[in-house]
Amino acid sequence: MTRLVIFLFTLLYSCTHLDAPRSPASIDQNRSLIKNTRLCHKEAVPFVRHFAISSSDVKFELFMPEKNYRGGQGMGVTVNKIIVTGDTIYYALPEMLKALKIDAKQVAHWKSNKAVVLSLGEGLSGLLPHLRSKGVDVYGLDIWYHSSDIPTNNYVGTQMIDYLNKYGDHLIRGSSSNIPVADSSIDVIVAHKLVNNLSVEDGLATLSEIKRVLAPHGEVRIFGILGSHKSAIKKYLKKHFTKTHKWSFTEGTSSMRFSEAGDKSLEESGTLLLIKPLTAP
Ligand SMILES: C[S@@+](CC[C@H](N)C(=O)[O-])C[C@H]1O[C@@H](n2cnc3c(N)ncnc32)[C@H](O)[C@@H]1O
Repeated sequence: MTRLVIFLFTLLYSCTHLDAPRSPASIDQNRSLIKNTRLCHKEAVPFVRHFAISSSDVKFELFMPEKNYRGGQGMGVTVNKIIVTGDTIYYALPEMLKALKIDAKQVAHWKSNKAVVLSLGEGLSGLLPHLRSKGVDVYGLDIWYHSSDIPTNNYVGTQMIDYLNKYGDHLIRGSSSNIPVADSSIDVIVAHKLVNNLSVEDGLATLSEIKRVLAPHGEVRIFGILGSHKSAIKKYLKKHFTKTHKWSFTEGTSSMRFSEAGDKSLEESGTLLLIKPLTAP
């Protein structure tokens, strides 16, 4: 039943927001272009804002480290000022799983329980493809999914379109503070590096939506709780989750990798919020 509801919502969103398929530059073509491009920077984040494209609710910005880099294709995209990814900067899947404390046993448990998993601010993280490959019923939500003006003249833009083409059926366009799924319909909610980008108000609105869509025995894993948001979040949890759930904050790390710098990583510390049901399902 829950899966049917999610499916219907996804279908509705796809029908109303998905544009006719375009012909993005081939990803392989772009990859070979990159291979043949000299390393033109050594700094971790050498972005220079180049230009922006706006639509009613989603604002894309392309970043280029220097003029004519990769034949002017650019390297990074932000959406509403939040970096989605750069082709040289990414969170590696193993580190993301570690940060969220998701191991193989956990994944097998979700699969055998037919849990419906929702990744908030999934972006291009690879979490959804990974869980799907393990047979988990997983959906991703992001504000830019199925947008009509994803940059096509940019490497990362083509990666975004590729992600939509491959996993579009499982990608829901929406904001974490207004999640377009039915009440009590999700068993597991995960968010890696989303709420640290939000204002405290949007973070609390996200928690309120999580509370609404979470099944009674559902669980939540959020990595990236800001120290400055912690007391407001604790207050919210005490007020709204105490009767049904317990929670914990754990210090951990996640690593950003820089592929062009020989896959060097920059370890970032962060706080994981785990919300578990008081009674097992
Ligand atoms: C830093 S990226 C993290 C992406 C991915 N979770 C990862 O770890 O690689 C943040 C993502 O959150 C998305 N995002 C930002 N605000 C959002 C909101 N209010 N609701 C849903 N997604 C949002 C951005 O578009 C972006 O894809």
